Formats: sequence, C-alpha cells, structure tokens
Amino acid sequence: MRVLTIIPTYNELESLPKTLGRLRTAVPESDVLVVDDNSPDGTGQLADGIAAEDKQVHVLHRKGKEGLGAAYIAGFKWGLAAGYDVLVEMDADGSHKPEQLPLLLDAVKEGADLAMGSRWVPGGSVVNWPLYRQAISRIGSTYARIMLGLKIKDVTGGYRAFRRSTLEALKLDEVDSVGYGFQVDLAWRVAKLGLRIEERPITFVERELGASKMSGNIVLEAMINVTKWGLAARWAKLTGKQPALAK
Ligand code: GDD
Ligand code: MN
Repeated sequence: MRVLTIIPTYNELESLPKTLGRLRTAVPESDVLVVDDNSPDGTGQLADGIAAEDKQVHVLHRKGKEGLGAAYIAGFKWGLAAGYDVLVEMDADGSHKPEQLPLLLDAVKEGADLAMGSRWVPGGSVVNWPLYRQAISRIGSTYARIMLGLKIKDVTGGYRAFRRSTLEALKLDEVDSVGYGFQVDLAWRVAKLGLRIEERPITFVERELGASKMSGNIVLEAMINVTKWGLAARWAKLTGKQPALAK
C-alpha cells in the first residue's frame, strides 16, 4: 500500500517541521505532500528545504490562500496522478497526532473506504481545546448528522485516510466548500455512494504554536450548506427525482 499524507499549510512555520519530523518517524513508509498557499511567513520555502533533504517529502505551491478544501482537492489530484493507494488528510499544527496514523491505515487495510479520526466516539478526546470550539464541533456534528442522515459522530474532523478508489468515485471538481464544510461535504459524498466509513478514536491536541485559520464565516458557510444539502435531499426523496440517501 503506497501512502501519501497530505498536509495543507498556511503560516505554519513553527509547527510544520515538528509535525513532519514526528510523521516521518512514526510512519516512515508514508510519503508526504505539503500543500502551501504561498504563506507570507515562508512556510513554503521551509518545506522546500526539507524536501531537498528527504526524497519522500514533496511540496505543492499554490498562488494564494484559497481555503482548506481547495488545497486538499489539489493535493488529492496530485496524489492520484502519482499512483498512491491511500491518501491521508492531516493538519500541520500537531492537532492530529502522527503516532495515531496507523489506526487509520489499519482501518483501510481492514476494508474501510474512508477511515476517519474521531474525537466524539468512545476513546476519542480533545486536549486543551477551548470549550466554545468543542461546542461548535459537537453542535455542528449533531446538526449535520440529523440533516444529512449520517451515522458518523465527528463529521467535521480533518484526520482521515481515503482509499484511492473512494476519491476516484467522488466528483472532486464539484466540491467547492471551503472550511469545515469541505470535510462534511466529502464525508456526505462518500456516504451517499454507500461506501464503508469507519471512525477510529483519536486524541485531538490543540495547537501550541501559531493561530487557527477557522473563522465565523467558515462555520456559517458549513451551517448554510448542510441545511441546503439536507433540504435538497429530502425534496429529492419526496419527489423521487434522485436516489434516496444512503443509510
Ligand atoms: N493550504 C492551505 N490553505 N492550508 C490551510 C488553509 C488554506 O486556506 N486554511 C487552513 N489551512 C491549514 C492549516 O495551516 C492547518 O494545517 C490545517 O489547515 C487546519 O487549520 P487550523 O486553522 O489549524 O484548523 P482548526 O484547528 O481551527 O480546525 C480543526 O478542526 C476543524 C473542525 O473539526 C481542523 O482539524 C479542521 O480540519 C477541522 O475541520
Ligand atoms: Mn488546528
């Protein structure tokens, strides 16, 4: 199984080297693709320096900040073209412990089409995450589960391993959500295809360095989109215009 871990970055100068070092030690067989949106703090150049020393590390430079979703789509396309079997999403700031990646890779090996790290299943947890962020995450997840009929507990989570065939089955060019919404969007698309999604408990550790890029607008975008998708799916079911939601 050829594994590519994709790490999107925007101003992660202090965090990225630490996360990369931990990942290369914890899961040396995984190649890495850093997708940098021309970070003003020079994260992209720092990543180039690391890539020059380590053949398993690659860097995709993008013109400017276009959001987490766009960065991941570009990374997925790069990884699919390069022939990887499993493509992993991981934050640069250390919140997703590289040491827990084997849990997700094992789930894919055991047959999952998408393995998701989950804070909100038994055994999962958050460390140092402000209460308001926990509240947004729990409420957002619950709302998305109800609106979209999803079984997943941590719908916005961003620590995931996709089987290659799962990404090939998605229409990546149709995905245009930016923030949390992107994560919900992809999970929902995978669920609608009837593919196998497995959650594994993870410990999400709030970043120690740098700042979060999430904003009120990103939360709002997600809420609006989830509402639209949920209503559209109900309407389609009622009128029989589209296949019903996957269970
Ligand atoms: N290339 C690129 N472009 N990277 C970005 C952008 C962007 O526009 N915005 C954010 N990132 C990168 C960050 O540099 C970091 O590596 C990762 O995406 C996550 O961003 P954070 O700003 O640290 O997100 P968070 O900690 O607030 O949110 C976490 O929780 C969310 C809710 O569960 C993440 O795990 C999200 O993926 C998750 O949806
Ligand atoms: Mn973070």
